[in-house]
Amino acid sequence: MNYSYTDYFAQIYDDVMRQVPYSFWFRYLKDLLKYYKSEPEQVLELAAGTGNMTVNLVKLNKIDRVIALDLSSAMLDKSMENFADKFPYFNKLSAQKNKTKAVVKTAKQRQVELLFLEKNMSKFKLANKVDLIVSFFDSLNYLTEKDQLVACFTSAADSLSRDGLFIFDMNSLARIRTIGNRSIVLEGEDYTCFWQDIVYPENNLWQVKLKICPDHQDIPCFEELHTERGYKINTITSLLKKSGFSAVDIYQAFSFREGRDSSDRLYFVAALNKKRLTETQTQFKKYYYLIKNFCDYSYLNLKYSL
Ligand SMILES: C[S@@+](CC[C@H](N)C(=O)[O-])C[C@H]1O[C@@H](n2cnc3c(N)ncnc32)[C@H](O)[C@@H]1O
Repeated sequence: MNYSYTDYFAQIYDDVMRQVPYSFWFRYLKDLLKYYKSEPEQVLELAAGTGNMTVNLVKLNKIDRVIALDLSSAMLDKSMENFADKFPYFNKLSAQKNKTKAVVKTAKQRQVELLFLEKNMSKFKLANKVDLIVSFFDSLNYLTEKDQLVACFTSAADSLSRDGLFIFDMNSLARIRTIGNRSIVLEGEDYTCFWQDIVYPENNLWQVKLKICPDHQDIPCFEELHTERGYKINTITSLLKKSGFSAVDIYQAFSFREGRDSSDRLYFVAALNKKRLTETQTQFKKYYYLIKNFCDYSYLNLKYSL
């Protein structure tokens, strides 16, 4: 058992994650983009999964091309279903091996090209550069070896336009080490999911063993193993620099406070151009976003009791 995001888990993923405040995450992304004066036209999402953030990315004002990359074809299939459910106009144009092209119309009747790519985020190459690359929900922690991270960051650097941004979140080292061993049972409408967290603090590893049993006696239970590794901020920063990025800002998730190894979730903003992260900043702007995000985060705490 050394695989994850199989067909069955993809089917129940959105139900298991129904409490995840993706719309708040999207608001935070928009704040980061405003802060760095970025108005992307093309975006690549790494480990895009079932598309919970991808469906939001098409709403960015100037976006005309969105690429959703993931290793799991089952997750990408689910993402296309989600697009078809959420948008009255969603049309598949072509489907080749590992690559599906589609088009969607937003509420403002803007047409956005979509490309669903079944690929490893440690090894990808795009035909055309994009001006934003993103990844959410600790997907980068699934790269458990430093050379996988370097390969991913190098592919990202090669795929990004000169003034583009690479924005991703990660579970911090502190979070991975302190998740704790526990077992829970998640009851869905037509399945039971046995979830076991196993932490190896000495190796900075967190594993989740899942056993998913459909409530149907003829369908056997499925098992999956998920493995994430936590890294020090300095490690990620130096791997980004080794891969071609010149500037990196690190935040505590959903805030404009500096990220630390003791923070729970971290957001990294990386740029190829050394001056890209500083040239648009003023002290006033920094304080404005600090206060705005403090208010937003307090609101989130109340709303979701996180
Ligand atoms: C926790 S899920 C997050 C999915 C999505 N980003 C979200 O916010 O819901 C992690 C995703 O990473 C993908 N993944 C894991 N390792 C990968 C790899 N090496 N290359 C591409 N995708 C990968 C999985 O298939 C899964 O869809």
